[in-house]
Amino acid sequence: MRFHLVLVASFLGLLFRTSPSASLRVGSFNLRFDSQPDDIDVATTLSALGDPLQEPAYLANVSEQPWSTRRVWAAELLLHRGVEVFGVQEALIRQVKDLKGLLGSGWDLVGVGRDDGKEAGEYSAIFFYNSTLELLDFDSFWTSETPFEPSKYEDAGHNRICTVAHFQPKDGSKLTVFNTHLDDQSEDQRRLAASLIFYRARYEAVKTDGPVLVMGDFNSPPTGDHSGAYNISIGTLDPKAINETFADKYAVDDDQQPDFILFDLRGETERRRVSGNFATFQGFTSPEETDKWGRIDFIFGGSNGHWWVSYQGVSKTSSTERSRKSEAYHVDSSLTDDGLYISDHRPVCVDVSLD
Ligand SMILES: *[C@@H]1O[C@H](CO)[C@@H](O)[C@H](O)[C@H]1NC(C)=O
Ligand SMILES: *[C@@H]1O[C@H](CO)[C@@H](O)[C@H](O)[C@H]1NC(C)=O
Ligand SMILES: *[C@@H]1O[C@H](CO)[C@@H](O)[C@H](O)[C@H]1NC(C)=O
Ligand SMILES: *[C@@H]1O[C@H](CO)[C@@H](O)[C@H](O)[C@H]1NC(C)=O
Repeated sequence: MRFHLVLVASFLGLLFRTSPSASLRVGSFNLRFDSQPDDIDVATTLSALGDPLQEPAYLANVSEQPWSTRRVWAAELLLHRGVEVFGVQEALIRQVKDLKGLLGSGWDLVGVGRDDGKEAGEYSAIFFYNSTLELLDFDSFWTSETPFEPSKYEDAGHNRICTVAHFQPKDGSKLTVFNTHLDDQSEDQRRLAASLIFYRARYEAVKTDGPVLVMGDFNSPPTGDHSGAYNISIGTLDPKAINETFADKYAVDDDQQPDFILFDLRGETERRRVSGNFATFQGFTSPEETDKWGRIDFIFGGSNGHWWVSYQGVSKTSSTERSRKSEAYHVDSSLTDDGLYISDHRPVCVDVSLD
């Protein structure tokens, strides 16, 4: 019986797909930088993991623990959820290396430290599983007034960077992934960053004629006075003026994707398939203190489409609608029973089919 269902499903799939498609699980996770560095190596952490049959002291201590304690859980959560490409934010070089090692064979990453364009400062790295995606190329730009050099926007707290990678999935067209981390202090920086990313995302949509995904920690919510970056991304607020060298490099003609915007994939997913939590940030506070909690991490898809839902029952939707739907969206908890917060953020995951 199951075999017949599979046959019917494949037949429907053939009818309604115009070209081959691959479903991809995409994630974004702010890991929280290694703020309490120690020199404990991964092997020592692994050998010190307790007895899995032992009941823990529930929620014993929810305060921030060192990266050396959090790292195994971060890697295991991502592996268990089956993400195939994901962006991390706040990752220092040690964290990047630890995570690559813990994820294991077949995992690779792109990105640079935001302070020198090499290994200094936090990375907004993009990790990917190399049997699903072949890396074509990548680059980084700074979300400042001088995007092609390590730099900080005037009133921002830190240098801020965006990583852009092109991948070739097994089937389908070239995929572009952006990963970024906007400033925590400057709303102007966040708006400028969103403007640069928006401009470049349209260019990628035109240039690649393929799916464009933008992810990151926006350090700002989708509503209220600090929602400028979000509104610029979804096209309801005009972008800010950007650096001219950048504008020239990524220029497209007025009639190419003129109405390009980014769709918040949480809103593009069938409601019953949006699961888990709403807030993506909890600030290491216990579930009784939610003042700081909020949704500030996002995954967007370009309005040029090439990512769409592949479950049955979508035959009536127009090709534009069909070409921009995600299949499932999930925000995991990052708190374990013993009170360990894996990060002060939660991982956001979305399933998209690509064509
Ligand atoms: C909770 O964990 C933090 C970080 O490891 C530690 O400094 C603190 O002493 C712990 N508090 C309790 C009550 O165990
Ligand atoms: C994927 O990575 C593994 C090791 O991590 C390597 O042996 C293999 O050649 C890579 N495959 C591709 C297609 O790059
Ligand atoms: C634009 O960015 C380039 C490269 O980072 C820089 O050299 C140039 O000075 C910037 N232009 C202005 C007007 O700031
Ligand atoms: C963003 O859009 C929302 C909804 O339209 C609006 O309430 C909010 O004020 C806007 N934010 C900014 C900074 O313009």
